[in-house]
Amino acid sequence: MSTEVRVKHTTPAVMASLDQHIASASVLSLKYKKFHWYVSGPFFKPLHDLFDEHYEQLEEIIDDLAERSRAIGGYPVGTMREFLELSLVTDAEGTMFSPLEMVEMLHADTDKIIDALHEHIELAAKEHDHGTADILTSIVQIYQKQAWFLAETKARKALGEF
Ligand SMILES: [Fe+2]
Repeated sequence: MSTEVRVKHTTPAVMASLDQHIASASVLSLKYKKFHWYVSGPFFKPLHDLFDEHYEQLEEIIDDLAERSRAIGGYPVGTMREFLELSLVTDAEGTMFSPLEMVEMLHADTDKIIDALHEHIELAAKEHDHGTADILTSIVQIYQKQAWFLAETKARKALGEF
């Protein structure tokens, strides 16, 4: 009996959604790391730590998505060129970002990914790929928690703390 994993219970569109989220999380993770390095000011330590925590969560998300793709017979994207081509978010060029700009950019990116995940959860369920729908549903909750942390961090603006 062959032990080869075959593509089944999924469709090319669902596979493509996994690639898009691997790419998006990869680009966003690098943006988090860059901001982890670049942040400065009175909130250096909490932001430096928050950005690294989210970076680490994204590394797990990327691995879970790529391994899901392999488990259902796919070959997930794994090059920088593909990440940049497929990502829903862009990387952060330049050096002059205020802490608030960093948080706002990360929040907007996270919201965009959450919206796409909701569409892709529905797509996977419609295509009877319930395992992928379940993984994407777990992942959207991680992003939503990150969005909450970023939104609360942004709320400091109202206090004039940035
Ligand atoms: Fe570090």
